[in-house]
Amino acid sequence: MATNRTFTMIKPDAFGAGNSGAIIAMIEKAGFRLVAAKVTRLTAETAGRFYEVHKERPFYADLCKYMSSGTIMAIILEKDNAVADFRTLIGATNPANAAEGTIRKLFAKSIEANAVHGSDSDENAAIEGSFFFAQTEQF
Ligand code: CMP
Repeated sequence: MATNRTFTMIKPDAFGAGNSGAIIAMIEKAGFRLVAAKVTRLTAETAGRFYEVHKERPFYADLCKYMSSGTIMAIILEKDNAVADFRTLIGATNPANAAEGTIRKLFAKSIEANAVHGSDSDENAAIEGSFFFAQTEQF
């Protein structure tokens, strides 16, 4: 069932560079509403659990290390067609392939330090959102 919600993290590269405000401004301008938001930090263990789906991939260990290297911002977003529209707004995983004007094209440094995460399905959006936020924290 489509929930019209998606989940994003502003990753350590973008948060550390002071780009969270500019990124959230782009997200709101694109019509998304913030449902929950939290500045926090992952440990290698919690990053490993969040990205467990990638645990067989060659980049998994580096990804967990990177995602626990600095402060992040976790955000649940709401909009019609949220998952697909957000993936369009952020652009391709590798910023070298991201379209002009997308968040990753503007702010990402590399395929790993790619500024933001975006859920790839309604199901994963719900799972990822609940990783960070209780139902009572979602407005
Ligand atoms: P994200 O959308 O958060 O989902 C998985 C993350 O793994 C991805 O963004 C990148 O930050 C990271 N990653 C590192 N290397 C790769 C790769 N070769 N392919 C896909 N994702 C990668």
